[in-house]
Amino acid sequence: MLHNKHTLQYSLLLLFATCTNTYVLCCIHGLYHVNCIWSNISSLVFFFFPEACSTMEVKPSANPVVVGQSITLSLSPPTSLNSGSWAVGDVFILTWSKLGDKDQVAVYPNYMGRASIDGSRALTLSSLSMNDSGVYTMRSTDPGVTASLIRTFIFFVLAEPVSNVTTSSNDSALIEHMDTAVALCSVSSGSFISLVWFNSSSEVTANDRVQLTEGNSTLTIVKVSRHDQGPFTCCAFNPVSNATSNPVNFTIYYGPDNMNMTLGSHTTGSNVTAVCASESNPPAQMQWAFKEQLLNTTGSVLELYHVTKDQSGSYSCFAFNNETNLSRNVTGYLDIKGEEGKKYYYKNTHFYI
Ligand SMILES: *[C@@H]1O[C@H](CO)[C@@H](O)[C@H](O)[C@H]1NC(C)=O
Ligand SMILES: *[C@@H]1O[C@H](CO)[C@@H](O)[C@H](O)[C@H]1NC(C)=O
Ligand SMILES: *[C@@H]1O[C@H](CO)[C@@H](O)[C@H](O)[C@H]1NC(C)=O
Ligand SMILES: *[C@@H]1O[C@H](CO)[C@@H](O)[C@H](O)[C@H]1NC(C)=O
Ligand SMILES: *[C@@H]1O[C@H](CO)[C@@H](O)[C@H](O)[C@H]1NC(C)=O
Ligand SMILES: *[C@@H]1O[C@H](CO)[C@@H](O)[C@H](O)[C@H]1NC(C)=O
Ligand SMILES: *[C@@H]1O[C@H](CO)[C@@H](O)[C@H](O)[C@H]1NC(C)=O
Ligand SMILES: *[C@@H]1O[C@H](CO)[C@@H](O)[C@H](O)[C@H]1NC(C)=O
Ligand SMILES: *[C@@H]1O[C@H](CO)[C@@H](O)[C@H](O)[C@H]1NC(C)=O
Ligand SMILES: *[C@@H]1O[C@H](CO)[C@@H](O)[C@H](O)[C@H]1NC(C)=O
Ligand SMILES: *[C@@H]1O[C@H](CO)[C@@H](O)[C@H](O)[C@H]1NC(C)=O
Ligand SMILES: *[C@@H]1O[C@H](CO)[C@@H](O)[C@H](O)[C@H]1NC(C)=O
Repeated sequence: MLHNKHTLQYSLLLLFATCTNTYVLCCIHGLYHVNCIWSNISSLVFFFFPEACSTMEVKPSANPVVVGQSITLSLSPPTSLNSGSWAVGDVFILTWSKLGDKDQVAVYPNYMGRASIDGSRALTLSSLSMNDSGVYTMRSTDPGVTASLIRTFIFFVLAEPVSNVTTSSNDSALIEHMDTAVALCSVSSGSFISLVWFNSSSEVTANDRVQLTEGNSTLTIVKVSRHDQGPFTCCAFNPVSNATSNPVNFTIYYGPDNMNMTLGSHTTGSNVTAVCASESNPPAQMQWAFKEQLLNTTGSVLELYHVTKDQSGSYSCFAFNNETNLSRNVTGYLDIKGEEGKKYYYKNTHFYI
């Protein structure tokens, strides 16, 4: 199970807007994830926020911001407005006014100790929490300012970094083409988390055998194949961080299949080594047969010493996997040539001398 403390669902987060360019971060928040895309859609912003057009901009020092950190909202171009206020939504953060040479700053009780402004009227907010996402507004009543109210809209995402990503599976051995593998990914903290699985280094995508459910926290592979051994890792990420889990491996029993045998032709009196191979996990138990009669030999190698002509014929290798309960066989033909070839060769050699 994915433990996500924050299930806030924002739909639109605007990073900044000016008269000339409007940058919007549109985010669709599910319970466990957020998908954000940057877009440049002036009309959308002015539709929602007709007052976004101002000669002044507010620039956040970071966006999105990590929970617990600070953010500074600077005015661009920098100004030294005599009086004004900062607010988020309808809630005032602080107000200031210049009396003589001195700034009088009044911080509202909810923001006491974590809000301040500097000479250029940039607002610094510290110890940010998820609640601090919102529309930030700077109002000024200075006579020098064209509009009596300067408002700029700042939305920002406050994301908690992802931590402690762990994967687990019930780790039983699975039989190829029959069993279902299940791995779970859990994240103990973080917000707006997206989860992606990797098999070794390639991203796992859903298909008819692979299911990604519960916001990708559950990976299910039905009718596992030998290529599903892993290692599988789960990567959790959000706009501010990412973390990768421990690997999970599956034990998958398969085979025997893709069998082959090497035999070839030999002359009498030579030694013959036949090797039988198969793809199998666990390795297949093997037994040999000559002309369909089982031999005592087990194991993947059959050794025949000083072979005679009557050892020519079909050799079979039977492979059995005791976990999958499957068996296969492969047959090869051993051709033992007599000494005639050699004699003929010597005769010919003689002929030429
Ligand atoms: C944003 O869109 C406007 C109008 O569609 C365009 O003129 C401007 O070049 C765009 N800005 C960027 C950075 O793409
Ligand atoms: C966030 O706001 C909710 C309700 O508005 C409140 O219950 C909660 O205590 C606030 N959390 C913080 C950290 O301010
Ligand atoms: C990490 O997550 C696991 C499983 O959710 C939990 O048992 C463990 O206590 C967590 N560790 C830390 C340091 O949070
Ligand atoms: C492994 O877990 C899955 C899902 O939780 C379950 O269907 C399956 O029976 C479990 N297998 C074993 C051997 O426990
Ligand atoms: C789930 O995983 C897929 C494939 O990696 C990815 O495209 C998708 O964005 C993920 N969804 C979530 C909710 O994290
Ligand atoms: C993961 O975080 C590291 C820095 O911690 C960053 O370099 C990397 O690009 C991030 N990867 C993704 C996929 O977000
Ligand atoms: C998983 O398999 C990889 C290689 O296939 C291996 O390096 C790793 O040690 C295995 N991990 C576990 C937990 O068995
Ligand atoms: C065949 O094997 C036997 C026993 O290992 C060995 O003595 C002999 O030299 C080998 N013959 C050839 C031709 O390699
Ligand atoms: C024989 O089979 C083994 C295992 O199945 C395989 O690795 C090898 O490439 C095969 N050899 C040939 C010549 O097909
Ligand atoms: C084959 O096995 C049988 C019984 O296990 C044994 O009696 C016989 O001697 C063995 N033959 C050879 C050639 O090892
Ligand atoms: C299969 O054989 C191996 C040894 O050859 C043994 O350790 C294992 O327990 C056997 N498995 C079954 C299911 O009989
Ligand atoms: C050997 O394999 C063939 C298929 O490749 C199968 O038809 C035959 O029955 C097998 N022989 C034995 C004795 O299992």
